[in-house]
Amino acid sequence: MARSLFAGLCVFALCVFKGDAGTETLVIGIAGKDVTLMCQNASEQALVVEWFRGDPSTTPILFSSDGEVPDDARFSLVGNTSLHISELRLQDESNYTCKEVLNETAHLHRVQLLVASGPDNMNVQIHPTTKLPNGTLYAKKHDILNFTCTSISRPVPTTKWDFYPSSSTNELFTEVNNSQNSFILHHMSPGYQGNYTCSAKNPLSGFQATMTQELLVYYPPPALPQCWVQTSNESTRGVQLFCQWPGGYPHPTLHWRDKEDLSGREINTTSLADSVVATLNSSQLLHEKEFMCHGRHVLVQEAKAACTVQLTNPLVTSDPVRSCFVGKAVALTCQSIAGNPRARITWLRNISQPEREIRSSGRFRISQEGNTSTLIIQNCSRSTDEGYYVCKAENSVGLREMYIHLTVNEPVNVGGIVGTIVVLLLLGILVFFGVFLYAGPRLCPKGTLLRTRDSSDILVLMDSEDEDVPTEAPGDPAWHRAMVRANGHATRTTESSHAEKPSEFDLEEKEPRTTT
Ligand SMILES: *[C@@H]1O[C@H](CO)[C@@H](O)[C@H](O)[C@H]1NC(C)=O
Ligand SMILES: *[C@@H]1O[C@H](CO)[C@@H](O)[C@H](O)[C@H]1NC(C)=O
Ligand SMILES: *[C@@H]1O[C@H](CO)[C@@H](O)[C@H](O)[C@H]1NC(C)=O
Ligand SMILES: *[C@@H]1O[C@H](CO)[C@@H](O)[C@H](O)[C@H]1NC(C)=O
Ligand SMILES: *[C@@H]1O[C@H](CO)[C@@H](O)[C@H](O)[C@H]1NC(C)=O
Ligand SMILES: *[C@@H]1O[C@H](CO)[C@@H](O)[C@H](O)[C@H]1NC(C)=O
Ligand SMILES: *[C@@H]1O[C@H](CO)[C@@H](O)[C@H](O)[C@H]1NC(C)=O
Ligand SMILES: *[C@@H]1O[C@H](CO)[C@@H](O)[C@H](O)[C@H]1NC(C)=O
Ligand SMILES: *[C@@H]1O[C@H](CO)[C@@H](O)[C@H](O)[C@H]1NC(C)=O
Ligand SMILES: *[C@@H]1O[C@H](CO)[C@@H](O)[C@H](O)[C@H]1NC(C)=O
Ligand SMILES: *[C@@H]1O[C@H](CO)[C@@H](O)[C@H](O)[C@H]1NC(C)=O
Ligand SMILES: *[C@@H]1O[C@H](CO)[C@@H](O)[C@H](O)[C@H]1NC(C)=O
Repeated sequence: MARSLFAGLCVFALCVFKGDAGTETLVIGIAGKDVTLMCQNASEQALVVEWFRGDPSTTPILFSSDGEVPDDARFSLVGNTSLHISELRLQDESNYTCKEVLNETAHLHRVQLLVASGPDNMNVQIHPTTKLPNGTLYAKKHDILNFTCTSISRPVPTTKWDFYPSSSTNELFTEVNNSQNSFILHHMSPGYQGNYTCSAKNPLSGFQATMTQELLVYYPPPALPQCWVQTSNESTRGVQLFCQWPGGYPHPTLHWRDKEDLSGREINTTSLADSVVATLNSSQLLHEKEFMCHGRHVLVQEAKAACTVQLTNPLVTSDPVRSCFVGKAVALTCQSIAGNPRARITWLRNISQPEREIRSSGRFRISQEGNTSTLIIQNCSRSTDEGYYVCKAENSVGLREMYIHLTVNEPVNVGGIVGTIVVLLLLGILVFFGVFLYAGPRLCPKGTLLRTRDSSDILVLMDSEDEDVPTEAPGDPAWHRAMVRANGHATRTTESSHAEKPSEFDLEEKEPRTTT
């Protein structure tokens, strides 16, 4: 650091002391520490060494090897030439000059003393955040954060912020030549979670101070907790209460409580990250018993995060009566409309003791869609299938049975019946027109009477549908009655009925749709 003395002083020294050129050194002292300023090139033969604070021409002598002592006891002379300052203070910073006197000549040496201090009193602030017991801060996701780092240092330090994310390597955020370094992060996201380190470096002494702050980014679960009841896999009687509250950080804590148990005692549960499972014992499996799951998350008001479940008996609906034609198929359905946990539906026949469960095999097929169970019986047989069927809905809380009676009927030739009705209808109409034409408009009241009687007769004929009416049965009393009333126009009507035959076939083709 030595360099030749600056011109002005050199000229002055030459003039006053007629001595040779002086020298200059730069000394950096640390506040609070000691420093020794050497009077360089002072020779052993030097008669007197004098120290000045500042310019020797303008300031009084500070120290002299021949007995002059400074007021401040922190100053002392070492080896008759060097100036020693203990417990350095900031105000000690100055340009010191030593003068050695050799015979008639004097030699000047200048020492520039700089006092560095700090960085001290480092302070890291991240706003707005909350401090956890271990000193870690947490911020809310989407918040705007102000990171500020301050320190006291002389001269002004270089202050920088480094970010060490949990996953990747560090990243330099900002660096300034200032004792305060602050920056803003908008829209905090989990990616900004990590360790933030502020470092301040004193450019003179090279001393560095750092401070690390761990910052977590918290966010609440987006929805409310969800509860449900499920029959446990291990035992069919066991019931498990599930409570789930995902999507938050940190994980919430969840507790199950019996709603009627006012002591607020928790039920023995198994916790996973975002969910909790309680296994109920048999004494708790009661109809309409309610359980509540409470969720706790640091960012959510506690009262808001709860869900309840109620245990209920099963309830089913079904048609109480079904019928089937011999040889055809029939579907018995049974819908579960209540039951928590969800009821299991089974089908039974009550013809044997104990009741036998029907399984999907052979002519029986059981399927479940949503909450509806369907039993399909194919190829109905009157002797084996007719009777009561039981739809049994069961869960761990209770059981409900529904009886369904199945009647098996002999098949009926629907096409034939429909054909007969059509033929008879046409006959009736033709008879009416015959009578009308025969009697003429003069007998209008008589015609009206006949028409009324005809229609009632047709109604009677339709009622006879239930009895197995053969299609072409001239011996049938109803048919016979119609013929008699035709009064000699029977031949014409019969012909017309034959003419209408194709429409009868049409109807027969449509038969399957009519039966379903
Ligand atoms: C002072 O001493 C240094 C070595 O300590 C030397 O290099 C330099 O030339 C000397 N200067 C004078 C003026 O004597
Ligand atoms: C300092 O100078 C004094 C006389 O002025 C002398 O007695 C003493 O021995 C010197 N000390 C050293 C270390 O040279
Ligand atoms: C000491 O000298 C330097 C020039 O070498 C000057 O810049 C500085 O201001 C001086 N310091 C004091 C305290 O006079
Ligand atoms: C200083 O004095 C010594 C003897 O004490 C002498 O040898 C030397 O030459 C003198 N130097 C000067 C520059 O007068
Ligand atoms: C401080 O506590 C939080 C929450 O309990 C934890 O996530 C974090 O890892 C802890 N930090 C340290 C450094 O222990
Ligand atoms: C951040 O906070 C510091 C100290 O509280 C304040 O001096 C600075 O102005 C703030 N920065 C912004 C951008 O608000
Ligand atoms: C912060 O640093 C500490 C200590 O090195 C480490 O245990 C912790 O996991 C870091 N935190 C984060 C969020 O990376
Ligand atoms: C801080 O000051 C040093 C020395 O003057 C300079 O090299 C550096 O570029 C400055 N840094 C900033 C960020 O201004
Ligand atoms: C809670 O249940 C577990 C198994 O489900 C059992 O090992 C444990 O003993 C139970 N604790 C209490 C207090 O009942
Ligand atoms: C069932 O649980 C209740 C409430 O937790 C408890 O009082 C009871 O003793 C338990 N019964 C059995 C058989 O474990
Ligand atoms: C089935 O029944 C349960 C009640 O037992 C009900 O919560 C659920 O919504 C029903 N599902 C359908 C698809 O109807
Ligand atoms: C089948 O159930 C019906 C309806 O409850 C009942 O009347 C009948 O006695 C039962 N049959 C047998 C064999 O249990």
